[in-house]
Amino acid sequence: MKYNISTHPVETSRLSTIDFDNIPFGQTFSDHMFSADFINGEWTNLQIVPFGDLAISPVNLALHYGQSIFEGMKATKKLDGTPCFLRPAMHSDRMNASAERMCMPTIPEDLFLQALHELVDLDKGWIPPAVGSALYIRPVMFAMDAMLGVKVSKTYKFLIVTGPVGPYYPKPVKLLVEDTYVRAAVGGVGEAKTAGNYAASLYPANRAIEQGYDQVMWMDAKEFKYVQEVGTMNIFFVMGNKIVTPATDGAILKGITRNSILHILKAKGYDVEERLVHIDEVVESYKKGELKEIFGTGTAAVIANVSHLKYGDLVMELPPVSEHKTAIMLKKEIDGIRSGEVEDTFGWIEPVKSVVNV
Ligand code: COI
Repeated sequence: MKYNISTHPVETSRLSTIDFDNIPFGQTFSDHMFSADFINGEWTNLQIVPFGDLAISPVNLALHYGQSIFEGMKATKKLDGTPCFLRPAMHSDRMNASAERMCMPTIPEDLFLQALHELVDLDKGWIPPAVGSALYIRPVMFAMDAMLGVKVSKTYKFLIVTGPVGPYYPKPVKLLVEDTYVRAAVGGVGEAKTAGNYAASLYPANRAIEQGYDQVMWMDAKEFKYVQEVGTMNIFFVMGNKIVTPATDGAILKGITRNSILHILKAKGYDVEERLVHIDEVVESYKKGELKEIFGTGTAAVIANVSHLKYGDLVMELPPVSEHKTAIMLKKEIDGIRSGEVEDTFGWIEPVKSVVNV
């Protein structure tokens, strides 16, 4: 291992208090976290420490001006018990793309991966065994300079926290086409996984919830006609025999699950298109009885079936989820690649390295 990461284990693990049958998303955190500081132009203080609170200045630049980025990843266990990541280097690449857009330092890929392996190896007992559950991994980096003024911070903190999770959406989701607010415009920060994008989604999402929907489906910022994504995931439509997803255009998050799904679909010979998706095309397809499935993709959500899509006054009710053959196949495939039941022909699985063996 290249970097010297010092490990300070907890005195008493909390693991025995956790009920893996009751792990709502994002509420339970494992014993340890990785922590590093960017000071004087380099990453230093590399350590694994007990999960816990931080001391932050009230004038921390991230709190005021939003230099904060994150990733969402998962570790799961194969049926033989081997803990694994799925495409971890791609998450490192996306984190660094977000960092560049937000004028933040990049994290060397080998540091990102070593920290991940050492942390998850230490807390591998926290990976829930059930298919569909996982150890969710949240790398996050934020500004640490203490001052006021819209400036690029010189210092940063990089943390990786983890926690066992069940499904993000335990039920099929109801989506509302957002016709007033926008998530991102081309030229903005929509492609960066930065905190502000999620903050901006809260008010419209609350309005959707008030109307009985789970989330909004974002339209393009110029014409409100072209589908972008959902607040928490990318989106796919099965219209007739075609599977269509909006092409990433600089405003849409380049989902890693989205990318995996495209690879799987193409390898299986599905007719799949990445392009502009006009909302009228979706409506027409629905009216002709050809809109068979809509599903979202994301690390947290994996594959989330959509049961309803509301556009203006029209509520499009999708066929029962048991008929969403593509989404069912894809979920099985992703779960199978993770569990080892489906051959990892893409080479996406990376077993967690045991620190004692390196
Ligand atoms: C993820 O899918 O991992 C995300 O970061 C999305 C967030 C809504 C949980």
